[in-house]
Amino acid sequence: MKRRAFLRHSAALAALPLLRAPLSAAPLATARAPLRVNGARLNGWLARFDAVGRTPTGINRTAYSEADLAGRAFTLDLFREAGLAPRIDAAGNIYGRLEGSDRTRKPILIGSHVDSVTDGGNFDGPVGSFAAIEVARTLREQRVRLRHPVDVVVWSNEEGGTIGSKCAIGEITPADLDKVARSGKTIREGIALVGGDVARLSEAVLRKGDVACYMELHIEQGGLLEKAGLRIGVVQGIVGLRWFEVTVTGFANHAGATPMDQRQDAMLAAAKFAVAVNEAVTSVPGRQVATVGRMNVTPNTTNVIPGQVMLTVDLRDLDPAKIAHFTERFERLGREIGAATGTTFAFKRTVESEPASADPQVMGWIEASAASLGLTRQRMPSGAGHDAQELARIAPMGMIFVPSVGGISHSPREFTKPEDVAHGADVLLNAVIAADRR
Ligand code: HGY
Ligand code: MN
Ligand code: MN
Repeated sequence: MKRRAFLRHSAALAALPLLRAPLSAAPLATARAPLRVNGARLNGWLARFDAVGRTPTGINRTAYSEADLAGRAFTLDLFREAGLAPRIDAAGNIYGRLEGSDRTRKPILIGSHVDSVTDGGNFDGPVGSFAAIEVARTLREQRVRLRHPVDVVVWSNEEGGTIGSKCAIGEITPADLDKVARSGKTIREGIALVGGDVARLSEAVLRKGDVACYMELHIEQGGLLEKAGLRIGVVQGIVGLRWFEVTVTGFANHAGATPMDQRQDAMLAAAKFAVAVNEAVTSVPGRQVATVGRMNVTPNTTNVIPGQVMLTVDLRDLDPAKIAHFTERFERLGREIGAATGTTFAFKRTVESEPASADPQVMGWIEASAASLGLTRQRMPSGAGHDAQELARIAPMGMIFVPSVGGISHSPREFTKPEDVAHGADVLLNAVIAADRR
């Protein structure tokens, strides 16, 4: 129901003639009054985008899929309509530039992603990507000439492990390129599909000093802002994450003729391990989280004792020492459960992202921007991973959160109110202006 209400609300907003008056007719921002984006236009884009990659089970713009290509094509049109001549870099990231007046200055980089998880929502990524396009378009339309160029970026394959932004900081290895993404293509194949070229990946790399700062608007994906009744989150830090593929190997055998004490049941071992992971992580105080999200069973047949199970673990915390501790703990659990069930456990680390702290000066600009707009706010951590944590390795980083209704995300029920989307974009816009004045 919420989504239909959002679509109606946004379509109505976008249709209102007074809101469609050319922005150049709008009064120029005075030195005091903060500038504002065209919130109706921004929410109209999101409402239309909701149909791209939508299936009966949710949004499925999986990176490197046909739906991802459709989402990228939609986004490229928004770049062009904003006068940002888009280019696709060797990693498949989309960039568009609003030129500045001082060619000696490095770009202010803003953006997010548009690929989704399986059966996800329409706001995780597109809110920040489209807001960045809207910010550049508003600056151009309001004839605000900044000294720094503003580069708008849409990162490729964020949900598969911030791949596009990892390429941008030179963190992707040839071995990574052969990993199979959720779409079933290797990362190498996927980058080619979206217009990149792994032979030229080095051209996509940004070094320290190449970017003045990076700012990303994103939905909170949790419920802290909603619970506190606040409008804006000023992100202090983003959790580190480590993903594992754990292969449990037993012995496939007859489900009827094999006595219970003569089995090497990979599913039983995997189930014990999933429970043990949860018990290990909840037995220690802190914000650490671990999730067994996928499980593939072989031969996955009713009357055969499973011979092999591949399961995934997603482990996160702000403290790298915690991640190291639980990695060792999980591997020990694998050995113990394997011994008790006659199975073996093999651990493969598939994705790693370092925890990242936001830059205090960038946080200050975001806070001052929210204050100038009269928006209530709080500093907070991010339990979700983001491209911003990769960019933090080469540039001062800041993130802006807007509330997720019910704290729901990575779900077709993901929803952020149009006014909160507009507020977040206004904060991004004025934070960019503040960054330009530093
Ligand atoms: O998994 C995450 O936290 C992010 O949504 N990619
Ligand atoms: Mn996500
Ligand atoms: Mn995201």
